Amino acid sequence: ATMSSEAELIHIFKGIPFTTRSSPELLKSLDTFDAREDDVLLVSYPKSGTHWLAGVITKLYNTQVTLTSPIEFGDISKLEELNKLSSKRIIPTHLDYNMLPPNFKNKKCKMIYISRNPKDTAVSMYHYYRENPNLPTVDTWTAFFDLFLKGDVVCGSWFDHFLSWEEHENDKNILFLFYEDMKKDLSKIVNEISLFLGLNVSDNDIQDICKKSSFSEMKSDTEKENSDPSHTVCALTSNRKLIFRKGTVGDWKNHFTPKQNRRFEEIFNEKMKLSKM
Ligand code: A3P
Repeated sequence: ATMSSEAELIHIFKGIPFTTRSSPELLKSLDTFDAREDDVLLVSYPKSGTHWLAGVITKLYNTQVTLTSPIEFGDISKLEELNKLSSKRIIPTHLDYNMLPPNFKNKKCKMIYISRNPKDTAVSMYHYYRENPNLPTVDTWTAFFDLFLKGDVVCGSWFDHFLSWEEHENDKNILFLFYEDMKKDLSKIVNEISLFLGLNVSDNDIQDICKKSSFSEMKSDTEKENSDPSHTVCALTSNRKLIFRKGTVGDWKNHFTPKQNRRFEEIFNEKMKLSKM
């Protein structure tokens, strides 16, 4: 592993750890971001299936749309860059609800929030920490497990992120999705997304989109492409090859000890006691 210390790679903004790929100036300026009524936001905590969902959504449109890089990725020139786009924008972000530019809320832009069993999210994020040079080094799963539960990881606590968005689950402009539901019946979810976005998509097209969005198809597409920096929707890397690891439900069972599982559930129950999840 490279010697990448926490101090070089991470800075804290409003109490939340960001990588230096998100400049403090950009984060500060997000409050003034100019949203457009037809923007669609694609929101997630890292490792929840963001790229999968982005793949589906871009295939649903037959008009010109631009899948931008994450709103919190880059420096202050980002706002200008997004402003210049003439086509409809699909904008990914890992921001929690409180940090989201207020303009998106005022204009009631459509937002899709995808989440995933936090145990699998933790395992996926552990491997991401191991492979991704933009993230600090972690030596063992045990060490990462503790950091994750403390919220001492990029984007902060999974619980705080989820709860900040869940508070808005009845907002008409926000659609909540789960990774596990997409695994179970992708065409049902794709149909739900297309209705939410007000698109008219035939059953045939939905079947076709599902086929093209399978883990193996997406992974092999990525291996064929030369990596294009605009090709990730995660502010933590531009290397798409780091995204497609295993793509399964329940990989946590291969990592958690029984004791870790008990501790996780204790904390989950405590933090999520007001949640409907
Ligand atoms: P694993 O590390 O468990 O394999 P994100 O896109 O938010 O970074 O999430 C990445 C996770 O989604 C990875 O999980 C990745 O394998 C999984 N994933 C990506 N594309 C997928 C697909 N088409 N079907 C199922 N899982 C997918």
